[in-house]
Amino acid sequence: MCGIVGAVAQRDVKRILLEGLRRLEYRGYDSAGLAVLAAGGPIQRHRAVGKVEALENQIAEVPLSGHTGIAHTRWATHGVPSECNAHPHISRDRIALVHNGIIENYQALKQQLQVDGYSFSSDTDSEVVVNLVHQALDDGGDLLAAVRKVLGQIRGAYALAVMDRHAPGRLIGARRGSPLVVGLGFDEYFFASDVFALLPVTQRFVFLEEGDVVDLRAEGFTILNAAGEVTERPIQVSGIDPESADRGAYRHYMLKEIHEQPAVIANTLSGRLADGRLSADFFGGEGNAILERIKRVQIVACGTSYHAGMVARYWIEELCGLPCNVEVASEYRYRVRPVADETTLFVVISQSGETADTLAALRDARERDYGASLAICNVPESSLVRESDLVLMTRAGQEIGVASTKAFTTQLVALMLLVLALGRHRGLPEAEERRLAAALQQLPQAVEACLALEGDIQAMAEHFADKHHALFLGRGAQYPVAMEGALKLKEISYIHAEAYPAGELKHGPLALVDADMPVVAVAPNNELLEKLLSNLQEVNARGGELFVFADQTVEVGEVQHHLPVVSVDDELAPLIYTVPLQLLAYHVAVLKGTDVDKPRNLAKSVTVE
Ligand code: F6R
Repeated sequence: MCGIVGAVAQRDVKRILLEGLRRLEYRGYDSAGLAVLAAGGPIQRHRAVGKVEALENQIAEVPLSGHTGIAHTRWATHGVPSECNAHPHISRDRIALVHNGIIENYQALKQQLQVDGYSFSSDTDSEVVVNLVHQALDDGGDLLAAVRKVLGQIRGAYALAVMDRHAPGRLIGARRGSPLVVGLGFDEYFFASDVFALLPVTQRFVFLEEGDVVDLRAEGFTILNAAGEVTERPIQVSGIDPESADRGAYRHYMLKEIHEQPAVIANTLSGRLADGRLSADFFGGEGNAILERIKRVQIVACGTSYHAGMVARYWIEELCGLPCNVEVASEYRYRVRPVADETTLFVVISQSGETADTLAALRDARERDYGASLAICNVPESSLVRESDLVLMTRAGQEIGVASTKAFTTQLVALMLLVLALGRHRGLPEAEERRLAAALQQLPQAVEACLALEGDIQAMAEHFADKHHALFLGRGAQYPVAMEGALKLKEISYIHAEAYPAGELKHGPLALVDADMPVVAVAPNNELLEKLLSNLQEVNARGGELFVFADQTVEVGEVQHHLPVVSVDDELAPLIYTVPLQLLAYHVAVLKGTDVDKPRNLAKSVTVE
């Protein structure tokens, strides 16, 4: 949530900041702003409500340049999206600051600052920090010392960058709880919330640790760790393709990412299967030694990633015979005494690897007696990856659409690989492992077959666009798929959607069913099929409009809308049935004219709790 960029260079930094903001827009897009400084000049600040484009338009005609600058794209936490709440915040024409995170004790600090004569022009928690830095500087000392003093006063999560009008060519950055990287150029250095923001100017990065403070200048930078000691952090070269954010011929990133699924699933599998089985060195010797001890699995995640965990629970219990618990991270992290023991594997699933609740749950788990932690993640440089014992990368490539699509299906592939690895120690017969490995290898083709349904799904979407509510039904491992379908529809089309295990319908939700309530169902050909079809008839009998995605071999009977789906091994059906639901949500949203890639009120990376 919120993206920040900072730059100190010999050249004008305005374009670098704007390009960085465009690349960080997925983190928040309700307002944006930047401030630049040229030696001897005032702080030049511009802010605009809406996307980065609005800021660009605002400054297009303005003569603006500077060698030092900071910029921000906002996802509102404290105060509505407005120009005065947009960052950078400025204290008494001297200090400018951008902040990502939440300052929990801002109210008490604000009251004291007001008593001390500071005025506030926003409703944000961040403005407290900029005024505190100003006050600390007034008390004596330099910018670095002032920022460090303030970090001792504030409580909460932050990544921040601070600029002083009296210190052109210098920025101070700090992180605790929110991500911040340093980008290394030649005689120019940068801050950003992620590496992607800076790829046009550098591929070399230093990832800051919790509690780090950085003194950044055009000639170099110094890092102080949480204890205040000068410290070195390794320089890493990013392998991310700077052009990977290209939308190509697709109308939206989300559509592009849905269509990328066959390729990225193949990428997730690449090198991980050998001779028709899981490759022997999949987790390496140390990883295998850990898995051998595992007798229980605890999965923690949020949103779409949580749904992937829910699917995996069916697999882990049925194929490995291991008890598996799945919980949303925001709940898990506040449980007083979750059952943890040395035979439990703690698994966190996250596309971004920076989700505040998931990260907090991992940190909490590491304090407990779990056997080991495993991160299933899409971003190699993320905090989650760096802080877990074992890592399984999903390799989906950058996901820009706020609604997660290819991240989910690749998480499922990674989770099935984990199941095969666990299964080796839990008596999963070799023939079963080979069957599942073969099924995994067939997945890209099966997903292609689902994508070929797009024209029919687009036509189906016409029947949805005027609806206000929808129900999604599934049974067994398809129940989380129904949840994922409902989540996709609500987040990008703003149609209220709920998912139920189909058998629950008659315990209450059936009362909602009438001609205005579309009911979407996913029906693979498995042992639950007949039960599901009976549930659908119950809907039919009450005049509900049914949209059924069923295995191509299944006779679904009388339903208004039906599309046949390619047959796959039942374990992998959740992955396959997700694709038509993604396309349905996408085409409904397009018909409704919503902002598909940046739906209202949301952000891609939820770095506040
Ligand atoms: C929904 C969506 C969110 C994320 C959730 C967790 O389409 O994208 O529900 O899945 O915010 O994010 P990650 O996976 O980055 O931890």
